[in-house]
Amino acid sequence: MQFFLDTADIDSIKKYASWGIVDGVTTNPSIIAKEGVNLEARIKEIAEIVDGPISAEVIATDAEGMIKEGRKIATWHENVYVKVPMTSEGLKAVTVFSAEGIKTNVTLVFSVSQAVMAAKAGATLVSPFLGRLDDISEDGMQLIADIVQVYENYGFQTQILAASIRHPLHVVQAMKIGADIATMPPSIFDKLVAHPLTDKGLAAFLADWEKVKDKQ
Ligand code: G3P
Repeated sequence: MQFFLDTADIDSIKKYASWGIVDGVTTNPSIIAKEGVNLEARIKEIAEIVDGPISAEVIATDAEGMIKEGRKIATWHENVYVKVPMTSEGLKAVTVFSAEGIKTNVTLVFSVSQAVMAAKAGATLVSPFLGRLDDISEDGMQLIADIVQVYENYGFQTQILAASIRHPLHVVQAMKIGADIATMPPSIFDKLVAHPLTDKGLAAFLADWEKVKDKQ
């Protein structure tokens, strides 16, 4: 299971990369807008910190425009994956990128049928947004499970990137189901590490050590 950071915040990326557990980074136009930066410059900056897939999204909505943008994005760094929205125009673009050896991440996926269409077009990654389904009282995790099963049934090579993660249990459940990757906001990394019994146990060890430290 790979862990990606779903952010373009450089300080966060540096912080969690230093833990040795960041396998890649995903961005989208909203994430870039939050940082208020130039996409190309920021993607190149991230590539200096993380040695793994870094997703950068096209803005065009027609296949021709996506292909033009995606080909340019793919030149920024060898680890850059072109993120393409799950539309019929997006499928056309992914088919071209796949033939050209350009890695892709098909995003805004909310159904099994969309995930299958992305895989058939040759997507490298597919991003089901589980949190946004939960937000509207649908079962996002069931979608991940269904995609895992259908991909296994037919031997699709596309990797499943569980996206729109809201809490650590989403990550654990996605791992149990068999998603390949989870991309998550920085705060989730802290929550994956924390446990009150670890804090309590460490405090007790240190307090007890105080009693014998002069004997060391
Ligand atoms: O980057 C795609 C996805 O992870 C976005 O998540 O929280 O905006 O639903 P969210």
